[in-house]
Amino acid sequence: MDWLDFIDIMVLDEKAAKAKYKQAGRIATDPRIKELFRKLAYEEDIHMAVLQKFKKDIQASTTRA
Ligand SMILES: [Fe+2]
Repeated sequence: MDWLDFIDIMVLDEKAAKAKYKQAGRIATDPRIKELFRKLAYEEDIHMAVLQKFKKDIQASTTRA
């Protein structure tokens, strides 16, 4: 496994976390808890974007070398 493969696995973990937070948000009845899970799900999108950026940077650096 190389770093690109590892990043792909991490992205899957972020997607799974987002799905769990969204599910928890659908189940929650307290609006404060719903908002908490909405924010947590959104943060997973940010994590995925950071990981995709890392992946592109690694790919760019390896094709240049
Ligand atoms: Fe995350």
